[in-house]
Amino acid sequence: MEISGKTSVCGIFGYPVEHSFSPAMHNAAFKEMSLDWAYVPFAVKPGGLAGAVRSIRNLNLTGVNVTVPHKQAAAGLVDRLSPAARLSGAVNTIVNRGGVLTGHNTDGLGFVRSLEEESGAEINSVPAVIIGAGGAARAVAVALALNGAPAMFIVNRTAERAAGLCELINNNTGCRASVLGWPEPYPPGGDGWAEALGSAGLVVQTTSMGMHPNTGQFPPVPFNLLNKGHVVVDLIYNPGRTAFMNMCEAAGCRVYNGIGMLLHQGVMAFELWTGRTPPVDVMRAALYRCLEAR
Ligand code: ATR
Repeated sequence: MEISGKTSVCGIFGYPVEHSFSPAMHNAAFKEMSLDWAYVPFAVKPGGLAGAVRSIRNLNLTGVNVTVPHKQAAAGLVDRLSPAARLSGAVNTIVNRGGVLTGHNTDGLGFVRSLEEESGAEINSVPAVIIGAGGAARAVAVALALNGAPAMFIVNRTAERAAGLCELINNNTGCRASVLGWPEPYPPGGDGWAEALGSAGLVVQTTSMGMHPNTGQFPPVPFNLLNKGHVVVDLIYNPGRTAFMNMCEAAGCRVYNGIGMLLHQGVMAFELWTGRTPPVDVMRAALYRCLEAR
């Protein structure tokens, strides 16, 4: 990669940021397309975000990704917000056009795109069950609702957070969201699960249960109610196959991990910055190289 005076610079604000896969994904795509662009990691400590966002204008960065712990705070620091960013209250991509900063959220939209491309799942005809109510769940729920999901059931260990997310969806979109009780200590099939899984076509696991190093954990859903009519996505990508995915697959479901969402949030950020379609296979290969080297 040749850096010149004309090179467009973008990057990622996060802390820590050294484990991010995004520099490898984006720089591989720039190289493949012979674009005079470079993607740089910026370790922005908590408390440093406002100054870092100002520096997007001052340093004429074309855009940045924003990751942990800054996604929520970034939503309050940009000039404009996309509908998904406004509704989810989180920004993972900032675009700088002539000093005007627009915040986007490509996490949830990347999830929807990867789901459509990889699983062919119908999101606008059947309800979804979302397990979890944290930041990842919020991004996914908002993106599904904005893309025509008719209904969703949200289940979370802390029921108040599930209720809060349902309220957000019900008050701002045409999607009908309702709380589903955390299955423990209920017997499998109790508390609305039979009805929810009887109508749902998609189950999205957004909690950190099963993530390295807690690979033995999984959400205690009634697996006996799952079948081949369910597409299941576990947003975890470390490990690439979780106990939850194994149990859902044993019940007959088609299962996917979180690599597709990770890839497509990057693809969509690339499109927003450059206005070009990136070579998705090149970005995917770079991502897999990072995952294997980890
Ligand atoms: P993220 O931004 O990755 O979604 P988060 O906002 O901290 O992270 O949310 C973590 C999610 O995983 C929450 O839904 C959390 O449930 P609570 O709201 O009850 O905390 C869920 N979670 C994490 N560990 C869990 C566990 N051991 N059992 C059940 N749920 C868990």
